[in-house]
Amino acid sequence: MKTAVYPGSFDPITMGHMDIISRSSKFFEKVIVAIGHNHNKADGMFPVQKRLDMIKSATKNMDNVEVYIYDGLLIDFAEKVGANIIIKGVRNSKDFEYEQNMALINNSLKEGVETFLLVADPKYCFISSSMIRELMYFKKDVTEYVPNEIMHMLNT
Ligand code: COA
Repeated sequence: MKTAVYPGSFDPITMGHMDIISRSSKFFEKVIVAIGHNHNKADGMFPVQKRLDMIKSATKNMDNVEVYIYDGLLIDFAEKVGANIIIKGVRNSKDFEYEQNMALINNSLKEGVETFLLVADPKYCFISSSMIRELMYFKKDVTEYVPNEIMHMLNT
């Protein structure tokens, strides 16, 4: 069974992430959306449990998508869930450079782990979770950029 892990901090999940989840769910038997912590970033805006609830809600109609929180190294989590494929979305050349390094590090930490890079839909290339947080800070509408299912969870 081909299981792929799609990791990120998802603070919060955006339409860009949804595009990657939805496309990859058509190619793998199971896609595990994994909420991790990037130690180079501050703690974030939404508690991790809330991010999990948001993603579960946004992916509720995707039968082969599961959502987990992980702590520690991504490859250790991938091994635990029996996945040797990591999926990442690439919006631009900066993302590519970063993801290329991540893929090489993860592959050198665990031989046989492969990273599949999906080119982001141009519609979502300018979206990031920090952009959503910034718009929310200025009380601007973010409806266009996040899945409908999580709108009511953003301000509670
Ligand atoms: N569409 C829209 N936005 C996208 C996107 C897409 N397709 N793909 C990525 N993004 C955005 C995210 O929203 C995020 O925005 P932000 O910086 O404003 O929050 C940004 O691009 C970076 O996302 P991502 O590359 O997924 O990184 P992340 O910081 O969210 O998560 C971890 C990184 C948690 C997956 C990674 O650091 C990790 O696994 N850490 C654990 C330790 C480890 O194993 N490290 C690797 C070996 S050293």
